[in-house]
Amino acid sequence: MQHKATPGHALSRAVVTGAAGFIGSHLVDALLAEGTIVIGVDRRDPRTDPGAAANLAGALDHPGFTFVAADLRTCPLAALFLQADAVFHFAALPGVRGSWGERFVEYTACNVFATERVLAACEDVRVPRLVYASSSSVYGTTNGGATGEQSAPMPGSPYAISKLAGEQLCLAHAGKATTTFAVMALRLFTVYGPRQRGDMLIGRAFTAALGGPALNLYGDGSQRRDFTYVGDVVRAAIAAAAAPIGTTVLNIGTGVTTTVLDVLNAVEDLTGHPVPVNRLPAQAGDVEATLADNSRAVDLLGWQPRTALTQGISRQLAHLNANPPQPVGA
Ligand code: NAD
Ligand code: UGA
Repeated sequence: MQHKATPGHALSRAVVTGAAGFIGSHLVDALLAEGTIVIGVDRRDPRTDPGAAANLAGALDHPGFTFVAADLRTCPLAALFLQADAVFHFAALPGVRGSWGERFVEYTACNVFATERVLAACEDVRVPRLVYASSSSVYGTTNGGATGEQSAPMPGSPYAISKLAGEQLCLAHAGKATTTFAVMALRLFTVYGPRQRGDMLIGRAFTAALGGPALNLYGDGSQRRDFTYVGDVVRAAIAAAAAPIGTTVLNIGTGVTTTVLDVLNAVEDLTGHPVPVNRLPAQAGDVEATLADNSRAVDLLGWQPRTALTQGISRQLAHLNANPPQPVGA
């Protein structure tokens, strides 16, 4: 199969869904910096949502950027995808712990049904490559060791199930005889850095240390995550869009795992303040440990994570100090 995107060359034109979000907005910035023409799609509209406006502050005035405020569950997509070398599908409802109960209807609509619409539109206009933001959560409970892509998924939350369903849809489309595109399904491991979502650990710990509400500490803090810096994730996504390889699933993590308590210690060291906590029971769906075997991404993309946790969280703190958190829009 021929791919328009050539390794080592910037993409000419790309679409980023979830462009107003944490990871999507960094991806937009990185693509624009490489000279790519970018269409960003998100249902959060920077004209009415201060958080979206803050995330896209560097992109909105860029001549190479067009923002489209639209809901992927309903909006026409094919015209937006015309001539794109790659579609980066990063829009989703991303929270693990909030995915139980009635919200699962919205999770399935945004994470599964919208993904099906994105895939159908890619087929319609023959987009050569789709990069899908999958999730380490698809693995569920592990033995604590590094997880490779061949491990059987055992998703343990409605969110994780929706992300695995989205991934499987991507692979089903890519496997059709008539499909012209390859899918890179990137299983991202707990991403952090500037603009991190307000429901996630590291930002909440900094906010608590700096005088905001105490951190709700779920469980005893011994749970571990392979925390991965957003800049490293974005480099992997762009490399995946251009790599001369067929459809595949890739772990994007650092290969290092850290307990929540160690993260809190690092936050205390950096801020010079204790992190006040409210101790709460472990939350349903939260796994005990994640750790990526990232060797496939290293081999196939020539990619390496570059950012150690202490360095990355220092950057997150510097960004928080310069940009106090904005309220999240509708
Ligand atoms: P985010 O919430 O900051 O960004 C997601 C964006 O998608 C939001 O701006 C939201 O408005 C948009 N969106 C959701 N549903 C939409 C719809 N129906 N139509 C249009 N836009 C819609 O989340 P994030 O942390 O940046 O995550 C981005 C992607 O990466 C998600 O797919 C998530 O599942 C995946 N992921 C994130 C992490 C992480 O640690 N942050 C780890 C693994 C996977
Ligand atoms: C993160 C993202 O939020 C998901 O979108 C993503 O799919 C997932 O990573 C992934 O790797 O696939 P999570 O690991 O829960 O999910 O990330 P955090 O919210 O930063 O939580 C890390 C740990 O801190 C969890 O054990 C959580 O229970 C704990 N935590 C989090 C708290 O104790 N208190 C909080 O306020 C937030």
